[in-house]
Amino acid sequence: MTIYADRPKQLSITDLAAMKQVGDKISCLTAYDASFSALLDLAGIDVILVGDSLGMVIQGHSSTIPVTVEEMVYHTRCVATARKRAFVIADLPFAAYATLEQALQNSARLMQAGGAQMVKLEGSRPEVVGFLVNQGIPVCGHLGLLPQSVNRLGGYRVQGRHPEDAQKILKDAIALEKAGADLLILECVPAKLAGEIARNLGIPVIGIGAGVDCDGQVLVLYDMLNISTGNRPRFSKNFMAEAESIEGAIRHYHQAVKALEFPSAEHCY
Ligand code: KIV
Repeated sequence: MTIYADRPKQLSITDLAAMKQVGDKISCLTAYDASFSALLDLAGIDVILVGDSLGMVIQGHSSTIPVTVEEMVYHTRCVATARKRAFVIADLPFAAYATLEQALQNSARLMQAGGAQMVKLEGSRPEVVGFLVNQGIPVCGHLGLLPQSVNRLGGYRVQGRHPEDAQKILKDAIALEKAGADLLILECVPAKLAGEIARNLGIPVIGIGAGVDCDGQVLVLYDMLNISTGNRPRFSKNFMAEAESIEGAIRHYHQAVKALEFPSAEHCY
């Protein structure tokens, strides 16, 4: 018997893995507050990412670097409280996983105080992934363009265009899966490389600017609703252009991901 019999089932990592197996594409969007979280949930979005992109679209910074763990905890709690079905991932922000100890402490904050079901970290850090997974913390890797490393990269650019860079991203992806990651986000890489990685990995690969052959898609909510100032990245799309409401735009995105209609060639590299 359950006292929550009227609640829809919350998606789990097992459900996401099963979606990859049957070819059901995973729809994912970012959200940072309760109102958008509830709207995304109602529209059927499978995964909500509380991304540190909030540093740019909510706080107005020019990068994600100023975002703190406590800010991530606050926004994750707003999102997790309001959703019923969607799986919630929270970003570990810049320098929050420099050591294993910090990675554990900060992931615990995101899960215990924030209500996240999984944490995401950028880069090739299999030792951190393995350590967190051993503590019972599900981890999403993030390869390709790494926004937290923008000062090292010298800007936001497509990654993995050269064969040796592509090989390194593939090798890193395999290492993260071996270390125990349950999900991988690939950002701004050529569609051909992303497809190869998705086929080589057993875990779901969610793309942003990574082509239609990934197992799912994610966009920054404010970009696809056309409420970000500045240039919208090439890989994003204004879903408000043909929608009558925000809910309509989100539903259209969800259906377009499921039907492999988004991304199309114009959104790919
Ligand atoms: O912070 C974020 O929103 C992200 C997505 C761009 C994948 O990491």
